[in-house]
Amino acid sequence: MIQFPKEFYWGAATSSYQVEGNNLNADWWAWEKKTGHENSGPACRHYELFEQDFDLVKSLNHNAHRLSIEWSRIEPREGEFSDEAIVHYINVIRALRTRGIEPMVTLHHFTNPQWFADSGGWSDARSMKRFLRYGEFVTRALARGVHFWFTINEPTVYFSHSFLWGMWPPQKKSILQTKAVYHNLNEAHIEAYRMIHRIYKELKVDKPAVSIAQHMQAIVGCDKRLRNRLAVAMRKQIYNFAVLDHLAHYRTLDFIGLNYYSRHLVDVHSWWIGNLLMEKCSDNHHPCKKNGLGWDIYPQGLSQVLLELKKYKLPVIVAENGICTSDDNERWEYIQSHLKNVRLAMDQGVNVTGYLYWSLMDNFEWAEGFKPRFGLIDIDFKTYQRTVRDSATKFAQVCKTGILEV
Ligand code: BGC
Repeated sequence: MIQFPKEFYWGAATSSYQVEGNNLNADWWAWEKKTGHENSGPACRHYELFEQDFDLVKSLNHNAHRLSIEWSRIEPREGEFSDEAIVHYINVIRALRTRGIEPMVTLHHFTNPQWFADSGGWSDARSMKRFLRYGEFVTRALARGVHFWFTINEPTVYFSHSFLWGMWPPQKKSILQTKAVYHNLNEAHIEAYRMIHRIYKELKVDKPAVSIAQHMQAIVGCDKRLRNRLAVAMRKQIYNFAVLDHLAHYRTLDFIGLNYYSRHLVDVHSWWIGNLLMEKCSDNHHPCKKNGLGWDIYPQGLSQVLLELKKYKLPVIVAENGICTSDDNERWEYIQSHLKNVRLAMDQGVNVTGYLYWSLMDNFEWAEGFKPRFGLIDIDFKTYQRTVRDSATKFAQVCKTGILEV
């Protein structure tokens, strides 16, 4: 039996574009149409069905819920702010609060308004100011209902997928642009952090807790050869720590949001910089189970990265952790084994204050479309019928009692 503290945030996470449906003014929408990728369409119809979904959240004993605001709804054209959209999100926050669920709000979760993308996106020097203008509008409207903010979801995933490897819109492959995006995202967070705190002070609302959600993998060398050790150290610094170090230096993190899914095995065959930074192990000498997308399932990595976060001396919320699988038993095993590792890190002094499963429901998994099933709740994408999975019911017990039976 593993026990968690009485005061602990338990819940699940979603993002607007992946669940709401019909985000017609987002850059992803246009990109799906242009490239022939599966269209997000009505997604889970969560924009209409959020009340009903939050009833399920409540019935699953979650006391926290992470969601994101869709910038392209709030500001569909530059400088034009939508009353309808902001009223919607005010109602969303109210719906959570009236059910006793703590909202945790992300301002940017991968998608941008099309006008923003068309006028340079995140590589443009104006991006930070544009993001702040949107952020200020949202903060003023939601301040009284929201304590926890994530300014930006996974900056490293965003700039690498969209600007370095060219996999996501705007599909750039440019080191120069990546550098600019990296800089602009960091600055956007720092300024948004200050802006959110300033607004709370002005409105005389209790101090908020502001962070980013940082994607971290357990980066592990296949063996102890110097080349591998060097590559591991470099990759940890670039992918896991660089952003956090920068934001911590400017004292703009009140806590750390950690998104953890998987292991990244490193086996480098040459000293060339490209190999050091990117070559992955192509062997099968450290076999482990994989999720539906072929990612390694590596629960011990969660305690590993949590322990590595200790140096920041900040509370940590696991803001995403989950598996896509067609086997719901596997999902429960995944949750169990990862929670064990959360507890292990806590026993070694990491102040973890919450755990949010990704995701509340099956949803639109970006370039992979609707096939991968990450949800605690199954969605029938023909009828939009919601069905609570067994893993969700088991997790609900943990959320209720703070006790994990193992
Ligand atoms: C992202 C989610 C995504 C999940 C699974 C995270 O990196 O924040 O939007 O659905 O991983 O791929």
